[in-house]
Amino acid sequence: MAPLYFLSPKTMFTVLNQVSGKSFKCGDEESVLDGALSNGFNFPYGCQNGFCGQCKAVILNGEIDYDGEVPSVLSADDIDSNMALLCQCKAKSDLYIAVDELDSLAAIEVRSMPCRVEQINHLNHDVIQLILKIPGAQSLQYLAGQYLDLEHSDFDSRYYSIANAPTNSNLIELHIRLVDNGKLTNFIFNSLVPKSILRIEGPKGSFFLREESECPIIFIAGGTGFGPVKAIIEHLINIRSQRKVYLYWGVRSEVDLYSNLPSEWSEKYPNISFIPVLSEANETWDGNKGYVHDSVIKDFEDLTGFEVYACGPPVMVNAAAKSCLEHQLVKENFFSDSFEYANVSNDNA
Ligand code: FES
Repeated sequence: MAPLYFLSPKTMFTVLNQVSGKSFKCGDEESVLDGALSNGFNFPYGCQNGFCGQCKAVILNGEIDYDGEVPSVLSADDIDSNMALLCQCKAKSDLYIAVDELDSLAAIEVRSMPCRVEQINHLNHDVIQLILKIPGAQSLQYLAGQYLDLEHSDFDSRYYSIANAPTNSNLIELHIRLVDNGKLTNFIFNSLVPKSILRIEGPKGSFFLREESECPIIFIAGGTGFGPVKAIIEHLINIRSQRKVYLYWGVRSEVDLYSNLPSEWSEKYPNISFIPVLSEANETWDGNKGYVHDSVIKDFEDLTGFEVYACGPPVMVNAAAKSCLEHQLVKENFFSDSFEYANVSNDNA
């Protein structure tokens, strides 16, 4: 008879951040930073290897441990002030710490780094999901909704929104639509192969979730504008937000709804509603038809107290902004990705 092996269950501790008042569970075998990131917390970090010092935080109460010696980036003063390096230390008890979480762009460094093509998945006839892997020694910190520059030596660089929420993963997901006569997208669709090396620079852009708010959110996505919206909704799920979310995804026809995730979210999470909108629906479609922003206004005549996040082609985003502001949305509560898309010409796409 084969021997039985029993794995000892890992011990979980609660880590409470004094600054935000929020807490997360962290295992005793992972770094405190890993625990924070996998729970959707935007803790600052850089190298994740104990060299840069960007993940320093004060331990107000509780016990931590390092696998080896205390990292040399911590000075004697740091140690006297109970500073710890969150990417290297592990919790040995419940912890009470003080960390300024990133909720603005100012604290995030734009970095350029190589990455390897991990997967190329065709999601439908003209959208590819590109999964890029950042080399183990490096990391890309970003806020859900931001974008990066994708660079290849033979083409002009091109902006793409990051389509996955920041967690403790060195994988980056992009949704890339084939652009007629677009040199880079044609190369990606026809010639790029797994294990190719590309370069990315980011994160960039100011399209990200305002976490301090409790307002219900309306997302208006057009085509692959769903990518950054997906990242933000994944982040809301990761942080267990109970904010009411309405996702309107506008595409031409049913085949352009290239992901089943919105339907799965709406079935699984009572606070998330999904409303697909087709501009060129056939007679079998019994859902919403027409322009996506018109569907929003039909459902919400008064947008007082809402936040709207819109991402997609400039014409859609501009029309959405106009309609929403005409229906009592406060200007400061409209967030969009319009200009970043507008700056790209098809020849370079
Ligand atoms: S992230 Fe660089 S030292 Fe922790």
